Amino acid sequence: MIEQFMDDVDFGLSQQQKSLPSKYFYNKEGDALFVKIMHLPEYYLTRSELEVFQTKSTELLNILKLSKENYFELIELGAGDGLKTKELLKVLIDENYSFGYLPVDISKNALDNLEKTLKNELPKVSVKQQQGDYFEVLDAIKNSEHQKIVLFLGSNIGNMNDEIAADFIYKLGKSFKPNDKLLLGVDLIKPESIVLPAYNDKEGVTADFNLNLLKRINKELEADFDLKNFSHAPEYSEETGIAKSYLQSDVAQNVTIKKLNKSFAFEAGEKIFTEISRKYNDEIIENIISKTDFEVSGKLTDDKGYFANYILTRK
Ligand code: AVJ
Repeated sequence: MIEQFMDDVDFGLSQQQKSLPSKYFYNKEGDALFVKIMHLPEYYLTRSELEVFQTKSTELLNILKLSKENYFELIELGAGDGLKTKELLKVLIDENYSFGYLPVDISKNALDNLEKTLKNELPKVSVKQQQGDYFEVLDAIKNSEHQKIVLFLGSNIGNMNDEIAADFIYKLGKSFKPNDKLLLGVDLIKPESIVLPAYNDKEGVTADFNLNLLKRINKELEADFDLKNFSHAPEYSEETGIAKSYLQSDVAQNVTIKKLNKSFAFEAGEKIFTEISRKYNDEIIENIISKTDFEVSGKLTDDKGYFANYILTRK
């Protein structure tokens, strides 16, 4: 674990364009900051997707062509607090569908908390938590005879470039049987005046979230990043639909990472690339899906057309 972190940091900071993988945002502090982000007025993604589940769950069930007689497994990759999924679970319970809910997460703590809230709020849901890596969990349950409906929400796919996203979905499909479904929640391309503030909020929570990467390296790899000398620098291109976050070195400086036995030089204004948050449209989704064993069976959006949930069917 720490070895991988050391290698990734060493590799990323040794490149011409310095970079750090966004997956390292999510330590305890980063998780808490991300929860704060989801409640920010500028961060429309969570609210828009919640609206889809609040207003279109019945339509979703029609597109999924689920029958009440056939037991199915509702599998959620990276379940978090289950905010959006609870809307769907409510409808499934009210309409007497027969299913099990299998939230998948790396964090046992997150799964325990989710199971607790569900016991309180929706006691009829049968929860079978799956702790571990997405691919390992899916591989372990791939031979079950039940139909699978897999949720991958929150535009989490947006942290991958299109090639990696296509590869990821293709690999997911290896654990699916024909007619199993993947529900993919993605943020849509829209004007910069709406997207950029979502990654550059007034309160500075997203800045703290980004800078927390350096804090984590300081702590875990005994480095001496001076957080005052770096600033959060997000960018967005409406043409490409790609938002990127950087950490900019405001001065020329050297940083030593003891555990790597190395120092890294930063020029004034030099940027470390830390995250891609891709935005989509039908053409981009079709292009990605064409490289997988899925086909697009439907799409639901919120009223403003900010966010979409694509229903993909395994061929
Ligand atoms: C969790 C990947 C969907 O890219 O919008 C939020 C993470 N980064 N603010 C996103 C994030 C900065 C988020 N995802």
